[in-house]
Amino acid sequence: MTPPNEQVDPESSGIPAEAEAQSANAGTLDDGNQAPLANPPSMDFWQAVYSRRSIRRFKPDPVPRELINQVLHAGIWAPSSCNYQMWDLVVVDDPKINLDLAQVSSQLGNAPVNIVVAYGRGFSEENYANVQSAAALIENMSLAAGVLGLGSFWITQVGDGRLLGAKVGLPPDRWVVAVLALGYPKSVPKKGPKRRPLKQVAHYNHYAGKPIPSSADPTDWDPELLTIYQRARVLNGLRHNKPRAWEVRALDQAVETLLPAIEGRLEADQWLDVLPCTGILTDRLGRKNGRVEWSVLERSEEVASWCARRVKPPAEQYILNSPGQDLAPPEEHFDTLTCFFRMEGLRGAERRDLMAQMFRCLKPGGRLLVGFVSKSSYHNWTEGLRSRGQGPGGVEYVLSPDPNIGPFEALAPAEVKAMALAVGFVPAGQLGLQATPPAEEMEFRTRNFGPRVGRLLRGVGSVLRLLEYLPGFTRSRGRFQYRLYTRPKS
Ligand SMILES: Cc1cc2nc3c(=O)[nH]c(=O)nc-3n(C[C@H](O)[C@H](O)[C@H](O)COP(=O)(O)O)c2cc1C
Repeated sequence: MTPPNEQVDPESSGIPAEAEAQSANAGTLDDGNQAPLANPPSMDFWQAVYSRRSIRRFKPDPVPRELINQVLHAGIWAPSSCNYQMWDLVVVDDPKINLDLAQVSSQLGNAPVNIVVAYGRGFSEENYANVQSAAALIENMSLAAGVLGLGSFWITQVGDGRLLGAKVGLPPDRWVVAVLALGYPKSVPKKGPKRRPLKQVAHYNHYAGKPIPSSADPTDWDPELLTIYQRARVLNGLRHNKPRAWEVRALDQAVETLLPAIEGRLEADQWLDVLPCTGILTDRLGRKNGRVEWSVLERSEEVASWCARRVKPPAEQYILNSPGQDLAPPEEHFDTLTCFFRMEGLRGAERRDLMAQMFRCLKPGGRLLVGFVSKSSYHNWTEGLRSRGQGPGGVEYVLSPDPNIGPFEALAPAEVKAMALAVGFVPAGQLGLQATPPAEEMEFRTRNFGPRVGRLLRGVGSVLRLLEYLPGFTRSRGRFQYRLYTRPKS
């Protein structure tokens, strides 16, 4: 299997004639055309495309270099902007070096081979043609890996790219774009994560879709788009947005403090979890409160059923904004309602509607526990820092208590209180937590910063943490605010 070298036209190749002459004079076996394997295995094209999967668990077996070379060779036959081919590949198949790379990003600790893909800085910057070229190469390599019976996964979460580049000896003017991890798969999933339907993403001649907003501002989000986005994210397989340890700790503390399991009270309690979205927190609440009869209220049937299956036996499912329909939540039915970090994603009027709906669902005497991120905390300050370029931006990465999905805006505690009182709730308890970032969070948020900046920020964090000793500081300035409200008996 040899690429069609007779069709290569030196006039249009984009390689300077001098360089071409040099490589021809070098007399090496590899003139760029000869494939490393004489008879590489083949696969039907469509099968290769549709069966390619991201493999993240590998056997420890080493991969023969002939196979790796075949993968690399398929890569260099990808198109590149102006045919500059300013990519450089460093294949790390030495377990000791890979162990060292895993210190830069834990994602590099999964496979026996990591192919570090770099592109020359300053080349083909228009419209990120450099990244596009590197991406074409990576995709070719991952398809080739599949045909050769290998698994691969594309890693952009490489940590500090400069450090990684330096560790494998790349000069500073090479930009580490990504890493392709390679190895023999432990198992290959039969089906890939779902794709958005073609009719949603492709249009002939003129765009006719309704785009999911890139903005994290709730006012930019039509509720229908939020429903579509969340359904897609949940059903396509969530890789991000897992709750962090410090967020889960805050939740546990709030539930234990504000919703104590009074003897008999939680037995056969009718508990509705409102807009659980990923259901990760429902799952946690379910494991801690086994004897509860669970229900979930979501925006779409698909997400509701996803969340419902997180508890045993599966929860009842209800759909938001479906008054008069079978799936509307019953009124005056529930003893306990929880709503964690969801009002932040709604527009003002929708927030108020949700509060009213929650009031109607509760039995008189029932209780609602709301958790939200406070505007009067360090939250917006750190979000501002990130938007100055220190971290990934966009709605997908909005700094919010994971698992937030979609738009997000920290709330003023006074606004939450006013909404609750307006519909008839009576305040019954409150808790403010984490007025300064916990050490774990600082560690996590600064993990991709340079060592000096990271150390400095973590130091500032430790000093700030002393503020938590000020009486009332955490209660009023806590990033996480929890409020307990009851519906009066009459
Ligand atoms: C540009 C790009 C960056 C990616 N970065 C990562 C990553 O850092 N970590 C990871 O686990 N997967 C990463 N992936 C893999 C995607 O999560 C994966 O392709 C997607 O979930 C679809 O699954 P499939 O590849 O099995 O079809 C990346 C994929 C692409 C195209």
